[in-house]
Amino acid sequence: MSYSDLKNKVAIITGSSSGIGQACVEYLGSLGAKVVVNYARSEEEGQATLEKIQKAGGTGILVQADVSNEADVQRLFSETVEAFGRVDILVSNAGMQKDSSFLDMSLDEWNKVIGVNLTGQFLCTREAARLFVKQAKNTPPSEDACIGKMILMSSVHDVIPWAGHVNYAASKGGVLMLMKTLSQELAPMKIRVNAVSPGAIKTAINEEVWSDSEKSQELLKLIPYKRIGTALDIAKAVAWLSSDDSDYVNGATIYIDGGMTLYPGFADNG
Ligand code: BGC
Repeated sequence: MSYSDLKNKVAIITGSSSGIGQACVEYLGSLGAKVVVNYARSEEEGQATLEKIQKAGGTGILVQADVSNEADVQRLFSETVEAFGRVDILVSNAGMQKDSSFLDMSLDEWNKVIGVNLTGQFLCTREAARLFVKQAKNTPPSEDACIGKMILMSSVHDVIPWAGHVNYAASKGGVLMLMKTLSQELAPMKIRVNAVSPGAIKTAINEEVWSDSEKSQELLKLIPYKRIGTALDIAKAVAWLSSDDSDYVNGATIYIDGGMTLYPGFADNG
């Protein structure tokens, strides 16, 4: 697969100053897409990510925006259009955890996580869909061509319940149905919507687990393939879903989890 159709396509990747988003923006940039590096708080990380892409010969811009804020999301898209003239791909990735037992969880911890992980994806996908339709009106594509692609970042916790993380699990369960419903509604308009659901991926979000050897061993018991994933494992699937190679894929979730969703506890039990 060469992904040659990605060359010069414009891709917004939210939450791309670190972790999975950063790997996606670097990988799409290396495949010739014009990329938008987005961060909410750390300009320094965003700038460093953009510089890495540019040093590798890629093209991109840096835009600050909090995806849970409607005006910020509108500005993210308008600044992209100002710089590159259009948007072809949205990787709706920005996400966070604020863990707490259910009994102790504050409304603020609930609202923050739902705000970024679920409402943020609603705001970004709505903006992208509106823009894709507007662009297609101005420059009608050939009859069968897709007018835009969206990849939503979900998690294995869109199907695996997760005690102590109810805000996160509820947000990702919501992303699963957001993605499927959008795909059903937007496919006739030739917009492709899909999701990826990572398992345990070595990033800052779960550093507390993989940096501790005892906790890592416990985690590996949940992964039949016996390795913790890398952000690049996810970026490669995102690139495939962003390209025309996956043109007939609509409303799908790809679980990239070393088998975490296979109920590994049942391998020698049940
Ligand atoms: C979470 C990680 C966790 C993984 C597997 C991800 O969605 O963000 O913290 O390690 O799921 O449980």
